Amino acid sequence: MRVLVIGSGAREHALLLALARDPQVSALAVAPGNAGTATVAEQHDVDITDGAAVVALARRLESDLVVIGPEVPLVLGVADAVRAAGIACFGPSRDAARIEGSKAFAKDVMTAAGVRTATSEVVDNPAHLDAALNRFGPPAGQRAWVVKDDGLAAGKGVVVTADRDAARSHAAELLEEGHPVLLESFLDGPEVSLFCVVDGETVVPLLPAQDFKRVGDGDAGPNTGGMGAYTPLPWLPAETVTAIVEGVVKPVAAEMVRRGCGFTGLLYAGLAITSAGPAVVEFNCRFGDPETQAVLALLESPLGQLLNAAATGTLADFGALRWHPGSAVAVVIAAENYPGRPRLGDAITGAGADGVLHAGTARRDDGAIVSAGGRVLAVVGTGADLAAARTDAYRRVAGIKLAGSHHRSDIALAAERGQISV
Ligand code: GLY
Repeated sequence: MRVLVIGSGAREHALLLALARDPQVSALAVAPGNAGTATVAEQHDVDITDGAAVVALARRLESDLVVIGPEVPLVLGVADAVRAAGIACFGPSRDAARIEGSKAFAKDVMTAAGVRTATSEVVDNPAHLDAALNRFGPPAGQRAWVVKDDGLAAGKGVVVTADRDAARSHAAELLEEGHPVLLESFLDGPEVSLFCVVDGETVVPLLPAQDFKRVGDGDAGPNTGGMGAYTPLPWLPAETVTAIVEGVVKPVAAEMVRRGCGFTGLLYAGLAITSAGPAVVEFNCRFGDPETQAVLALLESPLGQLLNAAATGTLADFGALRWHPGSAVAVVIAAENYPGRPRLGDAITGAGADGVLHAGTARRDDGAIVSAGGRVLAVVGTGADLAAARTDAYRRVAGIKLAGSHHRSDIALAAERGQISV
């Protein structure tokens, strides 16, 4: 099987490494990729938001399967173009990708499917902002304001704060830029990312993971695209995962089929485990980053065959997934000033080591690997338990040198110490 992966992050690097372990995968290509993916796959420069260009590349490479990583090409319908060309594609159609691309669509599907989620309101007129903030903030019984960009913002459009002025100024800034604002009720409780491979009404869950969205230790500072992740979750009962699959993901998948926009690809349920049970924070239409880097490190089943089964309508026959025992921890190394405007172009040493996945990297003309994005690397450690996996991950992090870079030092720490309970 010849596979083309679309994207350029550490998520795509992790996908490529897992695909390379599948004995049925005979050729791997990536577009556009980064300095790390170039060591596993043939690299091609293409506009990944242009369906015709992706199809032309897949045809030229005689790809049997195209795997689309990021949400932007999915929301723009690149998977539709690939499928229309007769090439199997792992990734939802434009209509199905609205589960991430349109908050209003996602809320509508969840309501119809009877799935618990935050209450919300879209504000698109600055004159209505203060009244809406009054309905959602702590005076109305909430612990915090949740203010989101009502479009794709890679996690960075979200502000969760108990400070009304901070909530208001984020919302006002978004509105000034012409972005509608989504206000949501705050869901208390630890968060879970559950990735499910979905083909219509067939749902195959991967291991549950948790990610760390704030930039600093102890969840300090602004939201980012994700600073680390771990899997599995020792504090999450197996029956809760079953309840999420049966009571959240399957009803949503079935509702999408009922609406004529059945989902094929990776349906990512982001949930809070509240005292009243799991409630959905958001759905995404693709693998999450950096959870994928940890989850795929433990996958024993052949990834290419799994994704191909979903893409070709045979997922129901795939059978149960197999996992390596133990835990995996991913720690993101970010460029100076991220999530603000990152400092770029610095040489990195140690980036070629095992367990080091590339996100924002490029190879300079002199051969040096340099930073080329806010999140630069994701370093993955594994071990018999979380403590061992953390030790392994941070040992690898210590081998990386990048001027001005920063990372969190507490990824999976509270879980390792048994401090999370539901
Ligand atoms: N881990 C958050 C995301 O991928 O959106």
